Amino acid sequence: MSTSPQTAALTQAVTQEAMQSFAHATDPRLAQVMALLVKHLHAFVAESKLSKEEWLRGLDFLNACAAITTEERNEFSLFSDIMGISSMVDVVSQPEGGTPSSVLGPFHNHDSLLRDNGVDLTNGQPGERVWFHGRVVDTHGQPIANAHIDFWQNADNGLYPAQDPEQDPQNLRCKIVCDAEGGFNLLTIRPHPYTVPTDGPVGALLAASQRNIWRPAHYHLIVSAPGYVGLVTELFPKGSDYIDNDTVFGVRPGLIVPFVPCSNSAVAQRFGLEAPFLEMTYEFQLVKQD
Ligand code: BEZ
Ligand code: FE
Repeated sequence: MSTSPQTAALTQAVTQEAMQSFAHATDPRLAQVMALLVKHLHAFVAESKLSKEEWLRGLDFLNACAAITTEERNEFSLFSDIMGISSMVDVVSQPEGGTPSSVLGPFHNHDSLLRDNGVDLTNGQPGERVWFHGRVVDTHGQPIANAHIDFWQNADNGLYPAQDPEQDPQNLRCKIVCDAEGGFNLLTIRPHPYTVPTDGPVGALLAASQRNIWRPAHYHLIVSAPGYVGLVTELFPKGSDYIDNDTVFGVRPGLIVPFVPCSNSAVAQRFGLEAPFLEMTYEFQLVKQD
């Protein structure tokens, strides 16, 4: 059904007025962002010819997100993730030239312990051993001494400590400080694909949309150094299930890294490993702050 000239004129007037209503915000960026948000949300309503019932269902959905949201579980963040908004923000806000960023996800914890560079995070738990090492460099390949790495992942059962009372809250997570050449290394286990929480309104939306609920296996990292733009990212083992169908759209080509069989005897001895074990190597590139 096409829109009559009268309806088009009315919708344009409403959009203009609503955009203009933010023009005097004390923060000019707030004025700009809110006017653009109004513009695009109004265009969405106009183009989809949203019915009142559909609009009410949308409000019910947001209310259901609010009702299930707690300190530990934020359904709005999850909604942002599965809509690809979190990934869009990553892409447009990260400066070009460095390692691509990817979603933070809900399982980052600020209180991870500072461990020695070279830490063994495995503590006798099940899981294929991975020697993960590499460097942090600038965009010219020059090492960044003493860069910081914050690392976290899920356990062999696919769960993060926050989802699994059997796990120590510090399991498979750490902060480490790189050496003078930007080098880091640690021993960990292979991560596993993981489903986003499906017991709330976002899960119902994914089911109604017949969408995949899985994320591919990944390591989470925050890499930072004074004078450089901080990097929130993930590394995805090459060949992981769901790597082409991440439900939160976090995979970037530059973040897919192979696990390689490794028989380095010094490393095997240091960690008490039977060779071959798995090795992952990665160079993180940070962009200088303006
Ligand atoms: C995760 O990486 O664990 C995750 C990311 C986004 C939504 C849910 C989980
Ligand atoms: Fe994750």
